Amino acid sequence: MDIPCSLQERKILEKIALAAQELKVPAYLIGGFVRDKLLGRRTKDMDIVCVGDGIALAHKLAASLGDHVPVSFFKTYGTAQVKWNDLEMEFVGARKESYRQESRNPEVTEGSLQDDQNRRDFTINALAISLRDEDYGSLLDPFNGLADLDAKIIRTPLEPAQTFSDDPLRMMRAIRFASQLQFTIVPEAFQAIQENAERIRIITQERITDEFNKIMLSPKPSVGLDLLYKSGLLKIIFPQMIDLVGVEMYEGKGHKDNFYHTLQVVDNIAQHTKDLWLRWAALLHDIGKPATKKFEPGHGWTFHGHDAVGGKMVTRIFSRFKLPMGDKMKLVKKLVELHLRPISLTKENITDSAIRRLLFDAGDDIDGLMLLCEADITSKNKVKVKRYLENFELVRARMKEVEETDRIRNWQPPITGEIIMETFALTPGRVVGDLKTAIREAILDGEIPNTYEAAYAYMLEKAKSYNLTPVK
Ligand code: CTP
Repeated sequence: MDIPCSLQERKILEKIALAAQELKVPAYLIGGFVRDKLLGRRTKDMDIVCVGDGIALAHKLAASLGDHVPVSFFKTYGTAQVKWNDLEMEFVGARKESYRQESRNPEVTEGSLQDDQNRRDFTINALAISLRDEDYGSLLDPFNGLADLDAKIIRTPLEPAQTFSDDPLRMMRAIRFASQLQFTIVPEAFQAIQENAERIRIITQERITDEFNKIMLSPKPSVGLDLLYKSGLLKIIFPQMIDLVGVEMYEGKGHKDNFYHTLQVVDNIAQHTKDLWLRWAALLHDIGKPATKKFEPGHGWTFHGHDAVGGKMVTRIFSRFKLPMGDKMKLVKKLVELHLRPISLTKENITDSAIRRLLFDAGDDIDGLMLLCEADITSKNKVKVKRYLENFELVRARMKEVEETDRIRNWQPPITGEIIMETFALTPGRVVGDLKTAIREAILDGEIPNTYEAAYAYMLEKAKSYNLTPVK
């Protein structure tokens, strides 16, 4: 075997080989597993291609593994899946495919291994390892995929326009691999992506989003994001990002290029977290800037309210990308809305009440917010960067102090709506809400201490202005 495999993987490959011999079908290990093993990356998904019936091979293997190994299969596609321990094996018969211009559903006919390798996306994904008796373990590499792996190159086995037109998602896959593996797309392939970018429209949003998220999770997402931009794909799949591109000049004054600034912020945060949603927050933190941009004479470019406008845009963008609309979306929206707050704290005297408010508004997401704010520092001026970072350290220290005395994160005021209603025999309504808010604000502003007694006394006092007296 030409690739480094664990004992368990060796054992399963031998069993597959035996099952294939019994069925008299040539079988091969192919695709991502071979690529990733050669690169020393972790992988658990094996793709097996055989010249014959893939579903029958999957059943034969499952039977040899014991009584209770299930096979899930799709007759229409001729594919089958077997899960064993933590390995997932996908079986398919070798295919020859041709695609029609208006659809991504291919016409599939049986083919040889070579046919099957021809129809794969990239040379580094077309590497196969034989599971046949006569040459077990040898690498079958008709397109020099191994050399491309070494040279860190992404190249298509066939003419690139053909490969991308066959399945336009491959344009995003090329960029995703470039970003994930830090590989270079060969110029003729990149040019074909530019020429075929429009074809991405026939791909479902779910598949596009899946690839986009893999780019976001790559070690340096800016590589993939910039390639998406330069290929013309970003304009189609994410036009709001394009609005961030460029520098406008007026009266000799320009603003920073918000697109490249954003890419830098995403890279910065990626160095500190693998959390996809914090990376999305970095991607969207300035998305409201184009809509709020103004030139104010004597002052320069401003983007007032871009935090709030950006927050609103998050919902629409998540919906367009078919991303989860629950807690994850709320987190990203909250961070976009709050991303200027810590920096504004560092400009004035940091009061306890400002710290308390920030802790209250951010709740458990405060650490994510601070990561975003630190990532947002992209100044080239080292002195400035140092000053900002020191200020953030100060904010962190003050937050710790306030948190220790106040426990304000995820805090609820000591007087609830129920207590207000009981005290004054009220039914739910505006007055109850007003009183509750007044108490909360008084505590956050440090006007009264964060205790039940103080809050109760404040409520009684405040209630007088509503002509309310306690009933008990
Ligand atoms: N493939 C392809 N065209 C696609 C998708 C997949 O040619 N649009 C082929 C490639 O040979 C690929 C294999 O099918 O290696 C398996 O695809 P998949 O599991 O989706 O991707 P991997 O390459 O394994 O990579 P990853 O697991 O990182 O997605």
